[in-house]
Amino acid sequence: MKKIGVLTSGGDAPGMNAAVRAVTRTALSKGMEVVGIQRGYVGLLNREFVNMTARTVSGIIQRGGTCLYTARCPEFRNMDGVMKGKAVCEEIGLEGLVVIGGDGSFRGAGDLSSVGIPCIGIPGTIDNDISCTEYTIGYDTAMNTAVEMIDKLRDTTQSHDRCSVVEVMGRRAGYIAVNVAIGAGAEAALTLERPYDLNAIAAKMTKTLSEKGGKHHFIIVVAEGVGQTENIAREIQEMTGVESRATVLGHVQRGGAPTMRDRIVATEMGYHAVELLEQGIGNRIVGMKEGKIYDVDLQEGLAMKKPFIDHLYDILLETAY
Ligand code: ADP
Ligand code: F6P
Repeated sequence: MKKIGVLTSGGDAPGMNAAVRAVTRTALSKGMEVVGIQRGYVGLLNREFVNMTARTVSGIIQRGGTCLYTARCPEFRNMDGVMKGKAVCEEIGLEGLVVIGGDGSFRGAGDLSSVGIPCIGIPGTIDNDISCTEYTIGYDTAMNTAVEMIDKLRDTTQSHDRCSVVEVMGRRAGYIAVNVAIGAGAEAALTLERPYDLNAIAAKMTKTLSEKGGKHHFIIVVAEGVGQTENIAREIQEMTGVESRATVLGHVQRGGAPTMRDRIVATEMGYHAVELLEQGIGNRIVGMKEGKIYDVDLQEGLAMKKPFIDHLYDILLETAY
């Protein structure tokens, strides 16, 4: 291939810039031209292009967000939009495309591949909810940010003998919640993947409060998919008598400088994506399997089922008190 495109789509994630940089520099070093498409599929349809040089991607590896901007594009969900996208690619001579985003973005990439524009998906989302990969770019940074925030919350929670009920992001997935609960030393994590019983959580709190040397402050992490954080805090307070406060960490978790892990994985994935396109291969998702970068057929990858981190959830239960 002589000319490829790169775009970021869906929610931004720290490390997307590192992936854009790796895609650009790898392709340039292989003698390809690289076109940056701004605002995901919206920018493809609106022809929002940037010519990518080695200098365009200078000084971005350490920055959160995405220098290419991102968007959600309802028009790309139907084949009319996809055919328009194909026509734009042909008009500017794009022979392949790297799509950095989540599973919605990959469906668009699959559709575009099926009409003759080979696309490679790179998983970029803080949620780690893409089934064919153990790891998604942004996950590590988001967890570190959430833990840092909860460490701060703990100071005030402990000083007032309170309970903090903290909601973390993850859409419908509880990966961030369980890891963050362990990392922040929380007493419980409420997720959609595992059943939980607020009465049992309250009973444990009441028991330790009554013990000599027992705990007097508590952190409960709630996954975004469970929601109802204010209500949970109120119920905990009613059941235990411990003054409880709800905190929703929100979009702060999606920002900030990417961690080393996110920079490295993004760079490896970006490199691998271009190697596939160089061989004329499209319709693949780059992922991580048993700690190594690999690629999988796009539709097969989307159809996979991802196991939950049950072992970590069990360890949380065993070590919380
Ligand atoms: P993510 O990629 O983070 O899951 P979205 O679900 O918002 O984020 O999807 C991002 C974009 O991918 C959408 O705006 C749309 O352009 C495209 N997309 C989403 N779902 C589909 C689909 N079923 N078919 C084709 N394209 C899709
Ligand atoms: O997919 C990343 C994510 O931050 C989810 O954790 C969250 O549910 C969603 O995006 C929020 O999206 P928006 O930017 O539209 O508020």
